[in-house]
Amino acid sequence: MAPKHLSAVLLAVCTVLLALAVPLLAGDPNMLQDFCVADYKSLEGPLRLNGFPCKRPENVTANDFFSDVLAAPGNTGNPVGSAVTTANVEKVPGLNTLGMSMSRVDYAPWGVNPPHTHPRATEIIFMLEGSLDVGFVTTDGYLYGRTVCKGELFVFPRGLVHFQKNNGGAPAVAISAFNSQLPGTQSMSVSLFGASPPVPTDVLARALQIDGGVVEAIKSKFPVKY
Ligand code: GLV
Ligand code: MN
Repeated sequence: MAPKHLSAVLLAVCTVLLALAVPLLAGDPNMLQDFCVADYKSLEGPLRLNGFPCKRPENVTANDFFSDVLAAPGNTGNPVGSAVTTANVEKVPGLNTLGMSMSRVDYAPWGVNPPHTHPRATEIIFMLEGSLDVGFVTTDGYLYGRTVCKGELFVFPRGLVHFQKNNGGAPAVAISAFNSQLPGTQSMSVSLFGASPPVPTDVLARALQIDGGVVEAIKSKFPVKY
């Protein structure tokens, strides 16, 4: 084959391989062994990596794959009236490298789970009790929203801003599943108004087209975490 043709074929093969690799890169990486139970203690040393190092197999027990953390309702006695309890790799070491996790969300009557995103996962929510008004917003600003009742589910695509509101006068409960061991949650309001160091007030005032005093008033409601 002439060298010119050879490089054209190589380029085509590389393009196809890259195209095939893109979907594989869309979630947590694939497992390379049966399991890799997270060894939290090893992070006390200098080692840092993407995920957690594996426990030695002889130290792994069934309890590494077990948790009752979602059994009890979260405390919804807060200004937004909702509580998210997570069961991710930080609480269930056996989830390390398995690419999945869950949450339980409790809602007080009319409570809201405020707009947020999960940068590393798509979420699927299943209603155990009550009903919610839910929605997500696409990158071009379209809101997909509807009511979801007991026994029904709804999907929030990875990275898109979404929210839920209990639309009834009784408590509601939902279970969420994620295709990441640690989906990450970025709250819109906390990121903008509770960041440390703070996002400058003039930036927020200009972006939201409101007075700096209003920005300061909102900031005072979001105690900084760090
Ligand atoms: C709900 O959106 C959740 O992140 O648990
Ligand atoms: Mn969510």
